[in-house]
Amino acid sequence: MSLKILHIVGARPNFMKLAPLQRELAHTTHQQKIIHTGQHYDSQMSDIFFEELQITPPDYHLGVGSGSHTEQTAKIMLALEPILRAEKPTCVIVYGDVNSTLAAALVSVKMQIPVVHVEAGLRSRDFTMPEEINRLLTDQISTLLLTPSQDANENLLREGISADKIHCVGNIMIDSLFFALQAIQQFPQKAQKSFELIKKFGEKKYILSTVHRPSNVDDKESLQRLFAFFAEVARENVVILPIHPRTRKQLELNIDISAFPANFHIIEPLGYLDFINLQKNALCVLTDSGGIQEETSVLGVACFTLRKNTERPITLELGTNTLIGDNYELLFQKIQQVKEGKSKKGENIPFWDGQTASRIVNVLERYF
Ligand code: UD1
Repeated sequence: MSLKILHIVGARPNFMKLAPLQRELAHTTHQQKIIHTGQHYDSQMSDIFFEELQITPPDYHLGVGSGSHTEQTAKIMLALEPILRAEKPTCVIVYGDVNSTLAAALVSVKMQIPVVHVEAGLRSRDFTMPEEINRLLTDQISTLLLTPSQDANENLLREGISADKIHCVGNIMIDSLFFALQAIQQFPQKAQKSFELIKKFGEKKYILSTVHRPSNVDDKESLQRLFAFFAEVARENVVILPIHPRTRKQLELNIDISAFPANFHIIEPLGYLDFINLQKNALCVLTDSGGIQEETSVLGVACFTLRKNTERPITLELGTNTLIGDNYELLFQKIQQVKEGKSKKGENIPFWDGQTASRIVNVLERYF
């Protein structure tokens, strides 16, 4: 039977999860359409990912933009309902844990349309994170829960979700990571910005960082402590910080970086290929992102996570990730250890092999 699939995406971390599945489905007889909610709208936060990952342009763009969580979620729900009514898909596929994910899942389930959740079952158990609420609720109302690792299956079983709905398909981010590594090798001009930075600072000679979580950047005191740490590290190390729009706004309001060491480089958000290339060649990565904990683990680059918890514990067990929270003293020591060649090397993580999209198509064809 030929399926009619609607993918719903909205924010930067959704796009690299959509791309491999969209490509895989394009080789089948199934019909697929993409709805972009517009949660992220800057070209460096959205369009560039569609181009670089060769995702076909969205069939619908809801243009919801920014706002409070309630406002954003409500706008997505209102805009989505008439589209789902007209399209009558076999299922809706939602990705990850952003506001667009929960909003789309809610509208669909209320319309009796099956919801497929890619990256189901991750839990930080930290309810101050909006993403944790999105994950938990999306999973409760999903028809098929496609998990990246076995720990996620266990979380879902513990929450009473029946085993026949849960499928460990692996990590789709890694399908995109492999795609990017190949693209960088084949078409280095597409990652020109990163190659220039690597040439300027040297392979494994710079620290790459990203920060955007509300817990790190929305609270003035936390932001000041974090940037005082960056200033200190940049006295002896090159630090590159591609800056998320949320962080830029908070920085402009709260911190004067004009006297920061010249080794501290704030740059615009990068596209996917440039960012992967910078990660691969970094000495280590300091981040509060979820996906970057996974990418560094596969790339074998030490990752220090600026959070007190992670929904991705497998990156601590088998990958290269270490939780730091805001213990910057410890982080100084860790960076020193990396420079001495003493850092976690990481092992292969089961099903993080670039074949997740094809396993997902198999599950969809068996189920529907
Ligand atoms: C969202 C996700 C987060 C993910 C992150 C990746 C939720 C709850 N959070 O957080 O899980 O890690 O995306 O980027 O969905 N803005 C722009 N341009 C844009 C997008 C945002 O300027 O293209 C600004 C807006 O002022 C907005 C702020 O950034 O208020 C935050 O955007 P929002 O989508 O609400 O959350 P993120 O912090 O990006």
